Amino acid sequence: MSREVVLTGITTSGTPHLGNYVGAVRPAIEASKNENVDSFYFLADYHALIKNQDPALLKQSTFEIAATWLACGLNPDKVIFYRQSDIPEIMELTWMLTCMCAKGLMNRAHAYKAIVQDNEQKGRTDLEEGVTMGLYSYPILMAADILMFKAKKVPVGKDQIQHIEMARDMAQRFNHYYGDLLILPEAVVDDKTSVLTGLDGRKMSKSYNNTIPLFLPEKQLRKHIMKIVTNSLEPGEPKDPETSTVFQIYRAFATKEETEEMRKKFAEGIAWGAAKQELFEYVNNHLNDYREKYNDLMENPDYVEKVLQEGAQKARQITVPYIQQLRKAIGFGKIEKKKL
Ligand code: TRP
Repeated sequence: MSREVVLTGITTSGTPHLGNYVGAVRPAIEASKNENVDSFYFLADYHALIKNQDPALLKQSTFEIAATWLACGLNPDKVIFYRQSDIPEIMELTWMLTCMCAKGLMNRAHAYKAIVQDNEQKGRTDLEEGVTMGLYSYPILMAADILMFKAKKVPVGKDQIQHIEMARDMAQRFNHYYGDLLILPEAVVDDKTSVLTGLDGRKMSKSYNNTIPLFLPEKQLRKHIMKIVTNSLEPGEPKDPETSTVFQIYRAFATKEETEEMRKKFAEGIAWGAAKQELFEYVNNHLNDYREKYNDLMENPDYVEKVLQEGAQKARQITVPYIQQLRKAIGFGKIEKKKL
């Protein structure tokens, strides 16, 4: 049986939050325990550059996200765990793919469209204000991340499915010109949890500033959870779990049975304060051990750095020969007499 390749990355542009954990870290670590899977997990720092021009913050975020993966149980001996910018071959593949990518395809990318729409709503005359080429063409970089390692399965949130489809598109065009060298990836989406809602009810995301950081000290974690926006239903009034962020987050952590219990409590009209307290206790318990490990790792940058260096070495054993193969296919390399 051929081995399956699973790959995912987290952009290093902030402090890891519950959404990263539920949507990426936890399922990825789970998947990496399957013996038939080769896992590639990385810190997407090239991606971070799109929005982050503060070098200290970028570095701190890279450290925090690396420590998060390790604290949550990632075994670096079993997976390939690396920092994207340590693998320059990704950049070279990005250019090859850029030349395979229709501009019209990028016009349809969500991140770009969202900014244009926002500019429109704000009545700006320049609808592309704030759009760099990095932001505009970021799905190409993401395609390179994936295709570089021949990943077949890419676990992502629903908002990222489009990017995987774009990667397929670019790979197909490349293969059309140069032969079947790139593997077409597929998105794997876990409906229940993959996109967690944030404090304000929208997707939990750094871009919306509505996150709950993963490893807050207990007191602050409680404070954040108490800030989750709810409606004004009184204790005793039945509440709809499906539209409640408190319930959504609870469900992402709890077992099926516990979730059903909570659903009942909502029907019976649990007070918002009490529901939030239960959520806090559950999440806090769940994260306790990881938090301790995380705090240790944050005291040991040299150790984390060493893990990343070793990961980069393993990754480049794959990317260096593969990019050579691609370079050859497109006509780079040693010149030779024309074959007749
Ligand atoms: N763009 C992804 C996000 O914002 C992060 C990411 C970068 C990624 N490269 C990737 C995810 C490759 C999966 C595969 O969540």
